[in-house]
Amino acid sequence: MNIRMLKDGEQPPWNLLLLADPSKDLVSKYLDKSFCYVVESETEVTIGVIVLVPISNHIIEIMNLAVDESYQGKGIGTILLKHGIQTAAEKGYNTVEIGTGNSSINQLALYQKVGFRITGIDHDFFIRNYEEPIFENGIQCRDMIRLSMPSSL
Ligand SMILES: CC(C)(COP(=O)(O)OP(=O)(O)OC[C@H]1O[C@@H](n2cnc3c(N)ncnc32)[C@H](O)[C@@H]1OP(=O)(O)O)[C@@H](O)C(=O)NCCC(=O)NCCS
Repeated sequence: MNIRMLKDGEQPPWNLLLLADPSKDLVSKYLDKSFCYVVESETEVTIGVIVLVPISNHIIEIMNLAVDESYQGKGIGTILLKHGIQTAAEKGYNTVEIGTGNSSINQLALYQKVGFRITGIDHDFFIRNYEEPIFENGIQCRDMIRLSMPSSL
């Protein structure tokens, strides 16, 4: 397994990016100003992605994180998250933020296991920004749960 930065002009892994965020418009908007890293299998197939977007001189946000469905549950998401946090520290950002839906129970578990803590709720974010209603785990995704952690503990 190898993690590398997406090369200039290289096609981003849309199939993975859209797993984490169903709006191609929203993804395109942040991709241009981001640091995008992909994880490749031994056979150089792209199996994961993480997208970091600077918010200010000190804060960077993980805007997208996805692992190919057939590779999920093997620890790759955790490795990508830790890589993102390490990269943030190396680039001089002292705070890492991430947001997820109120219905994204597994993601909320993953982020807190890595060290993120809940800082706030953006009420009705998914109602305002997505045309189609989103349901996960039998719950409507309405609110964005905001989480944050220092890039070095
Ligand atoms: C979220 C995602 C990136 C996690 O990647 P992953 O490689 O499966 O994650 P890991 O194997 O490192 O799992 C870490 C933790 O996530 C949770 N988790 C991951 N998959 C899970 C599953 N199928 N069921 C329950 N919990 C799960 C668990 O808490 C797990 O911790 P554990 O191993 O101690 O049980 C991946 O599931 C994914 O791409 N999902 C679709 C896109 C998405 O929702 N992205 C996040 C947008 S907010």
